[in-house]
Amino acid sequence: MQRRCSQKARRTLVAVRFELKPPPYSLNALESHMSHEIMEYHWGKHQRGYVENLNRQIVGTELNGMALEDIIVVSHNKGDLPVFNNAAQIWNHEFFWESMKPGGGGKPLGDLLELIEKYFGSFEGFIRENKLAASTQFGSGWACLALPCLACEYFSFFVK
Ligand SMILES: [Fe+2]
Repeated sequence: MQRRCSQKARRTLVAVRFELKPPPYSLNALESHMSHEIMEYHWGKHQRGYVENLNRQIVGTELNGMALEDIIVVSHNKGDLPVFNNAAQIWNHEFFWESMKPGGGGKPLGDLLELIEKYFGSFEGFIRENKLAASTQFGSGWACLALPCLACEYFSFFVK
């Protein structure tokens, strides 16, 4: 997350603002899987809105100046759902963009494939469970597979 500091001439309050970070590729780079229109919707509308909302919400608060990840933790722990939602959705969208690339995808190799086969029986079993997770939870139909901790030796799905 890129941030920009600004200070109004007659104020002592320094506002640290989050900026809308563009995806690491053009909005039409994933055309065969995701249209430019959908990319623009998630980046130009969703992510932009979360950034603008969070910037408004943190002005003059203890959250101003914190890293995005710290705002997520603090707002979650305080039960500040509006701030948490905006901060977490900024993080989710940036993670979303970084998780894809033109020409990417397909069946993994090596250690990742071995772990997937160990926990899902097969790559095809993983695909089935991933689709089930994405289609049965509230959200946009998007699911990610995460290995939260190597020592834990388990996978979990989360949906954005
Ligand atoms: Fe979105």
